[in-house]
Amino acid sequence: MRELKILGVLVVFTLLVYYGVEPYAHSKMHHHVEPANFQFNDLKAIDYKGDPAKGKQLIVNAGCTGCHGIKVAKIPAPMPADAAAASFGVAPPDLSNVGYLYDAKFLKHFILNPAHTFLNAKKFNAKKPFPMPGFYGVGGDKNKEVSDIVAYLKSIAPKEMEAKETFIAACGRCHGVKYDKVTQLGEMPKFKSDTEKLAYELKVSKYKEHLLKYLAATPPDLSIIVRAKSKEHLETFIDNPQKLLKGTSMPRVGLTKESTEKVISYLESVGDSKKVERESLIPKIIGFLIIFTLFAYLWKSKLWREVH
Ligand code: HEC
Ligand code: HEC
Repeated sequence: MRELKILGVLVVFTLLVYYGVEPYAHSKMHHHVEPANFQFNDLKAIDYKGDPAKGKQLIVNAGCTGCHGIKVAKIPAPMPADAAAASFGVAPPDLSNVGYLYDAKFLKHFILNPAHTFLNAKKFNAKKPFPMPGFYGVGGDKNKEVSDIVAYLKSIAPKEMEAKETFIAACGRCHGVKYDKVTQLGEMPKFKSDTEKLAYELKVSKYKEHLLKYLAATPPDLSIIVRAKSKEHLETFIDNPQKLLKGTSMPRVGLTKESTEKVISYLESVGDSKKVERESLIPKIIGFLIIFTLFAYLWKSKLWREVH
């Protein structure tokens, strides 16, 4: 009986301490923020089906390909990434897979009003305009025309993308991942000499200088971000950076739920490569504890039987 009471007291105190450290302290230190819902509820629906054939024409007529390449349509990038960053502050991404990466409603709004939809418009003004101009339409209803463009972008997009590809396409123009040899210029090539390596490093650091001037902040390397931030935190942040870091120039890029998970799983595979191994240990450890408890109990019963 006494043993049970002691156990009870121990359990109560352990739980109290746990509550004090975890949920309670947590709620005091971090204010509650709505988790990501991938709905972009501040943006109104633009409900036109869109005609991909018209969109294909429009994307050229509207001048998009003056800045963006579309590899799958055999339209190369007009400038290499480092030269583009010197003009725009960041390299305009290739448009081959944006129909996979981004939410359709988000894309329509982004094309019509880019900085506003990125939620970083406050960083730009008449003196320092956002590098991508909004689409004003080519004479018809611009909501219909933008729907045609997005229908075209959806029609050329892949049905599936690898986790790493997803990261490079969505985040790679701003963030490097040193541990996986990924820089703002893409996957690091193999170098034949030190001079070649230095020349590449110089290009990357110039690119980063342009980024800094453009965004007034350096996008951090994301190699070990998963050790500092939980998956939920990253999801919420990607879905709407302003919710967690008010005033940040990190844009809301408009990823769908599926591509967000891909990006995070890539970051987990780089920053916490032992996670799968570690998690597979959990059932083994629990199994061990159960068996150990059983033996301890049997041993105790045996001892007591001998005493009585
Ligand atoms: C003057 C150059 C320029 C033109 C013209 C231009 N863009 Fe862009 N675009 C950019 C730059 C620069 C970025 C990257 C901005 C950033 O990351 O801050 C970008 C980003 C994008 C993105 C990525 C959005 C995201 O969520 O990450 C899409 C999609 C896009 N542009 C589509 C278009 C389409 C469609 C057109 C034509 C209607 C167009 N752009 C015209 C320069 C341009
Ligand atoms: C146009 C450039 C740009 C793009 C694209 C971009 N980021 Fe960022 N990101 C930034 C900048 C700039 C910062 C630094 C923000 C600051 O200090 O205010 C940042 C910060 C971050 C942080 C750190 C936040 C913190 O708590 O300190 C994370 C995590 C992050 N970005 C993840 C991503 C992911 C994942 C993607 C792709 C889905 C992405 N970013 C795309 C520019 C970008």
